[in-house]
Amino acid sequence: HDMKRNASSPIVIGHRGAAGEAPENTLASFRLAAEQGSHMVELDIHLSMDGKLIVCHDDTLDRTTDCSGAIRSLHSDVIREADAGSWFSPAFAGERVPFLEEVYDLLPEDVEINVEVKDSAGALLDEILLDYLRAENRLERTIVSSFDHKLLLRLKQAEPELRIGLLYAADLIHHASYAALLETEVWSLHPHHGLIGAQDAEDAVAAGLHIYPYTSNHPAEWDRLVSIGVTGIITDFPGRLKEYLGRL
Ligand code: G3P
Ligand code: MG
Repeated sequence: HDMKRNASSPIVIGHRGAAGEAPENTLASFRLAAEQGSHMVELDIHLSMDGKLIVCHDDTLDRTTDCSGAIRSLHSDVIREADAGSWFSPAFAGERVPFLEEVYDLLPEDVEINVEVKDSAGALLDEILLDYLRAENRLERTIVSSFDHKLLLRLKQAEPELRIGLLYAADLIHHASYAALLETEVWSLHPHHGLIGAQDAEDAVAAGLHIYPYTSNHPAEWDRLVSIGVTGIITDFPGRLKEYLGRL
């Protein structure tokens, strides 16, 4: 990975694909994000009852499909019957709740994947996820992030090659110092976009960290994030961000 950073051009990270323009966390959304030039896509995962890695933000199917119920208590066969597109627009009827592997299979190799682990179910998910990522160079394409930093530490200990990203919505006293506390290599910080200032960004970059604030959809926010030198921006509108960056 290229460690050089150009402060004026953060990478474009499509949030749940291109969630502003397609149903979040569906293959249609990831396809669109890639077509729009995303360098990376972010997605959320949970484990189904039968141990499959399911791409969905919420822990239930209720909000984003025509079915309901907790993912961890549903068999993947049932989850796969759900329509994950119609709630967004009839144009997306028939979109399915993806398995993680489908997203890797769909996207070109040069699109990186930020897997946000939502389900802190523990050892089982750790093992299933690492087993999956270890095959076919998937580790290289992946950054695993989570609000659960203990989970990230466990994963990093089990697989030192894994890139981990710390997600947080806390107004930390000093972001780079928090990352240093973990005493392991942290790839990236994923703060809420409103909670990272210029000095924190400068110190984090100096410490070799990438900074990928979430979820920022407005040019006024992008102006600030670019000016403080973040290295990526997580957005529901990767196409708009790409265009915006192209005009700088
Ligand atoms: O990974 C960035 C962002 O997705 C974290 O919050 O709730 O959108 O998953 P959330
Ligand atoms: Mg997320």
